[in-house]
Amino acid sequence: MNLIDYPRWPSLARESILNVPMDLRSIKLSIDGKVIDYSEEIDSVVITGMGGSGVVGDIINDLCWFWDCRVPIIVSKNMRLPKRLSRPLVIAISYSGNTAETIMSANEALSRGYPVIGVTTGGKLSTVLTNKGAPVVLIPKASAPRYGLPALLYPTLIILERFGVASVINELESGISGIEDALKRVDDAINLAKQLVNSVPVVWVTESRRGVGIRFKNDLNENAKYYSVVSVVPEGAHNDIAAVTTKQGGLKHVAIMGPNDYEGMYEEVLIDVLSSFGAKPIIVKLEGKTPLETEMYGVTYLGMVTLALAELLGVEPVSTEPIDRLKNLLSERRVFQV
Ligand code: F6R
Repeated sequence: MNLIDYPRWPSLARESILNVPMDLRSIKLSIDGKVIDYSEEIDSVVITGMGGSGVVGDIINDLCWFWDCRVPIIVSKNMRLPKRLSRPLVIAISYSGNTAETIMSANEALSRGYPVIGVTTGGKLSTVLTNKGAPVVLIPKASAPRYGLPALLYPTLIILERFGVASVINELESGISGIEDALKRVDDAINLAKQLVNSVPVVWVTESRRGVGIRFKNDLNENAKYYSVVSVVPEGAHNDIAAVTTKQGGLKHVAIMGPNDYEGMYEEVLIDVLSSFGAKPIIVKLEGKTPLETEMYGVTYLGMVTLALAELLGVEPVSTEPIDRLKNLLSERRVFQV
């Protein structure tokens, strides 16, 4: 099976963190008369980005259910930042650096006087931030944004460490072990993919694995061009679950469970209820000794499942033409001022 950039993920993770500027906390900018001082205390972190870049925020949110993150993480997937932030650090992530939503959010953050750090391979985001003196972490390239996930995630973790939000350093290598373990499961991945053919996968996750669920859905969409939904419990157990009795057919329930998931017992009950209505949920158990190891195992393994599915369906995995067309049309019609 063609794993595209997945075999490079351990080295992408290791290389990308070398580019995080050492002096992040000593940066001081002046924009429109407002001083932005990167050494000041923050009271939240906003992670802004779309698609394969934005999912980094979801993954960090998952990790903060296990880690003792010192401030709330706000995941923003929009062209505007949430209102009424107090003293946030804004991390703007765009693999290409050309995603208008992310550039607009970064600009808005600077004009509101917030410290902003870009994580990108270059593009306009890098130019806009660099011109204003804001720091940018330049990361190594991959075949498409989603295949560069470790290069987007690992520098972001280092930024959180530098701002005293979480202690990540001791876990970084375990995350890489999670990737390496998953890479050994190609046969399992192919087997799971076979079970998804001719279905609409309903991906069940707990709140603390939301990022893994979203990433799996996105990879199904983008690699296999396959429709799928994510249901996050407890909430999904109060609505989505009712559709288990559907006569529409074609749903395939996939329950993803990690070790020590806070809501794990809840999900077990959910699986019993789904089964009692005749569904045969597939259970995917994530492995790992640390939160980052488990998360990286999950996103790598499930990503491989979607590549296997693409191969089974005879679908070209890398290109995502509808996304490109949307971006072009947004730009042609001048929907954004960037
Ligand atoms: C994933 C993918 C998209 C992009 C999204 C944002 O491979 O192609 O989900 O990640 O369109 O683009 P970037 O990541 O360049 O900001």
